[in-house]
Amino acid sequence: MKRLRTFEFCVLIDWIWCATGRHPTVVQPFLVVFSYFQFALVLVLGFTSALQYDGECENKKALNPRPHSVSLLEFGAVGDGKTLNTVAFQNAVFYVKSFADKGGAQLYVPPGRWLTGSFNLTSHLTLFLETGATILGSQDYTHWEIEEPLPSYGRGIDFPGWRYRSLINGDDLHDVVITGGNGTIDGQGSVWWEQFSSHSLNYSRPHLVEFTRCDHIVISNLTFLNSPAWNIHPTYCRYVKVQNLTVHASPASPYTSGIVPDSSEHVCIENCNISMGHDAIVLKSGWDEYGIAYGKPTKSVHIRAVNLQSSLGSGLAFGSEMSGGILNVLVERLHLSNSFVGIELKTTRGRGGYMKDIVISNVEMHNIHTAIQVTGQSGSHPDDKFDPDQVPFVKGITFDNMVGSNITFAGNFSGIYESPFTSICLSNVSFSMNWDSSSSWFCSDVKGFSQKVSPEPCSDLKESSFNASSSCFFSLYPYNYATDF
Ligand SMILES: *[C@@H]1O[C@H](CO)[C@@H](O)[C@H](O)[C@H]1NC(C)=O
Ligand SMILES: *[C@@H]1O[C@H](CO)[C@@H](O)[C@H](O)[C@H]1NC(C)=O
Ligand SMILES: *[C@@H]1O[C@H](CO)[C@@H](O)[C@H](O)[C@H]1NC(C)=O
Ligand SMILES: *[C@@H]1O[C@H](CO)[C@@H](O)[C@H](O)[C@H]1NC(C)=O
Ligand SMILES: *[C@@H]1O[C@H](CO)[C@@H](O)[C@H](O)[C@H]1NC(C)=O
Ligand SMILES: *[C@@H]1O[C@H](CO)[C@@H](O)[C@H](O)[C@H]1NC(C)=O
Ligand SMILES: *[C@@H]1O[C@H](CO)[C@@H](O)[C@H](O)[C@H]1NC(C)=O
Ligand SMILES: *[C@@H]1O[C@H](CO)[C@@H](O)[C@H](O)[C@H]1NC(C)=O
Ligand SMILES: *[C@@H]1O[C@H](CO)[C@@H](O)[C@H](O)[C@H]1NC(C)=O
Ligand SMILES: *[C@@H]1O[C@H](CO)[C@@H](O)[C@H](O)[C@H]1NC(C)=O
Repeated sequence: MKRLRTFEFCVLIDWIWCATGRHPTVVQPFLVVFSYFQFALVLVLGFTSALQYDGECENKKALNPRPHSVSLLEFGAVGDGKTLNTVAFQNAVFYVKSFADKGGAQLYVPPGRWLTGSFNLTSHLTLFLETGATILGSQDYTHWEIEEPLPSYGRGIDFPGWRYRSLINGDDLHDVVITGGNGTIDGQGSVWWEQFSSHSLNYSRPHLVEFTRCDHIVISNLTFLNSPAWNIHPTYCRYVKVQNLTVHASPASPYTSGIVPDSSEHVCIENCNISMGHDAIVLKSGWDEYGIAYGKPTKSVHIRAVNLQSSLGSGLAFGSEMSGGILNVLVERLHLSNSFVGIELKTTRGRGGYMKDIVISNVEMHNIHTAIQVTGQSGSHPDDKFDPDQVPFVKGITFDNMVGSNITFAGNFSGIYESPFTSICLSNVSFSMNWDSSSSWFCSDVKGFSQKVSPEPCSDLKESSFNASSSCFFSLYPYNYATDF
C-alpha cells in the first residue's frame, strides 16, 4: 500500500490520491475515510487483478535456434575426463563472438567428459550440452581464476577477501542460453567441501554458473551436480529463466545452494528438482552496509512447479543477505520434502532492506522439521562495520493453500522488537504433526492474520479479518501494482 500501485487501481479510486501516496503527513485527513472503504476496494482490486495476472513464467516466447553452430571438437577439445579443455572453451567462445551481429551461434558440446577450469561466455551464445555430454570442473585450484568480491557483498561469501571465479561466467552480456538434452555440469565439489570444512582455502569457493549485469538469460534442460558452493547465481541481472533442471549435491555438502537470484529482477524458475546440503532456492540482495550502498533489490520473481529438498537448510529461502530488498515474489506449486526447514525468511539487525509482497501458494510438504520459519535473528555480518541500527522490515507475506505431513514444528515467527514483522497471513494451511501440536507455533514481535489453519496458530497471527483484508490479500497479485519496472 505504499508507493506501488497499478494504473488501474489509480483509475478505480482517484488518481490524485494515488499520486500523493499515503504518506501520513500528506493524506492524514483522508485516511479515516479511505480506510473505511479499503475493505471493499481491495476486494474489487483482488478480483480484477486475478484476471490480469501475468507472472514472469507466463511469457512463453520460444527460443530462436541460432543460425550458426560450432562444435567444441573444432577447437581441439578431448572428452576423456582427463585432458584440460579450458583453452578449447575459451577459443570456442572467442570464435562465437564473431557471430554476435549475425544472430549469434551455438557452441555444441558432444557426448564425452569435458574437464575444464573457469571460462567466460559471450553475448548471443547458446551453449548446448548434448545427451551424454558432461562439463567437469577441475579439482585443481590453479585452473580457476580469482576475482574481487561482488560490490553488494564487500567480501567473499565464505571468507573475507577475494573469491574464485565460477566455472562458467557471464559479465555484462545479453541473450545467452545454456541448455541441452539433459547434459550435465558437474563441479566435482568434494575437494572444495573438504577444504572449506578444514579451513584450508585462501579464497571463497566458486559457483558453477554466475551471470553479473546480464539480461535475457535462459538456463534449461540440464543436470547440475556437485557444485563447490552455489549452482546458478544471477546477480544484477534482468530477464532470467531457469527451467527444467535437475540440481543435486550431497546432503552433507557444506552450504551448497541451488538457484540463487541475487539483486536481480524478472526471474522465472520452473519445473526444477533440486536437492542440496543447504538452501535449494534462495533469493538474496546483498549484505549489510555493502548491500545497502549498492541498493539493488531482487524483485518480480515467479517460481512454480519445483521439488525442493535441503538436508541442513531450507527448501525455499529468502535472505539472510537481503539488504537491497526483496519484493514482488510469487511462488506456486511448491513441493518440499525431507528438509530441515520448508520455507524460511531470514534476516537480522544490521541488514537494513526489506522483504515484502511475497505470496507462496499451493504447497505440499513431507518430512520437514520446521515447516515455516520467519526470523529476524539469523545470519552473520560481513565485517564489524555494519550498522546495527539498520533494521530490516518484513511485511505482506502470504502463505496460502498448504498441506504438510510428518511436520515436527509448524511455524517459528520471531520478529525484531523495533521492527515487528507485519501482515503475515496464513490461509488454508493444514499440517499433520509428528509431535505434540499444542506447542507447534512460536510467535514474537509479529502480527498477522490466519484463517483455516491447523494446528491452531499463536494469537499474534489472529488479527481481525477487517485488518487482514487490507493487509494480506492486497498482495495476492504482486505484479499488478508494481509500476516501477
Ligand atoms: C573473463 O572475464 C573476466 C571479467 O571480465 C576477466 O577478468 C578475465 O580476464 C576473463 N578471462 C578470460 C580468459 O578471458
Ligand atoms: C525437460 O528436459 C528433458 C531432457 O532434456 C526433455 O526431454 C523434456 O522434454 C524437457 N521438458 C520440458 C517441459 O521442456
Ligand atoms: C536428467 O538426468 C538426471 C541425471 O541423470 C535424471 O535424474 C533426470 O531425471 C533427467 N531429467 C529428465 C527431465 O530426463
Ligand atoms: C593458501 O596460501 C598458502 C600461503 O600462500 C599456500 O601455501 C596454500 O597452498 C594456499 N592454499 C590454497 C588452497 O590455495
Ligand atoms: C527443453 O527440451 C524440450 C525437448 O527437447 C524442448 O521442447 C524445449 O523447448 C526445451 N526447453 C528449453 C527452454 O530449452
Ligand atoms: C522432477 O521430478 C518429477 C517427479 O519425480 C518428474 O516428473 C520430473 O520429470 C522431474 N523433472 C526434471 C526436470 O527432472
Ligand atoms: C518424519 O520426518 C523426519 C524428518 O523430519 C524423518 O526423519 C522421519 O523418518 C519421518 N518419518 C516418517 C514416518 O516418514
Ligand atoms: C486448501 O489447500 C489445499 C491444499 O493446497 C487445496 O487442495 C484446497 O483446494 C484448498 N482449499 C481451498 C478452499 O482453497
Ligand atoms: C525459532 O527461531 C529462532 C531464531 O532463529 C531460534 O533461535 C529458535 O531456536 C527457533 N525455535 C524453534 C522452536 O525452532
Ligand atoms: C487493526 O489494526 C490497527 C493497527 O494495527 C489496530 O489499531 C486495530 O485495533 C485493528 N483493528 C481490529 C478490529 O483488530
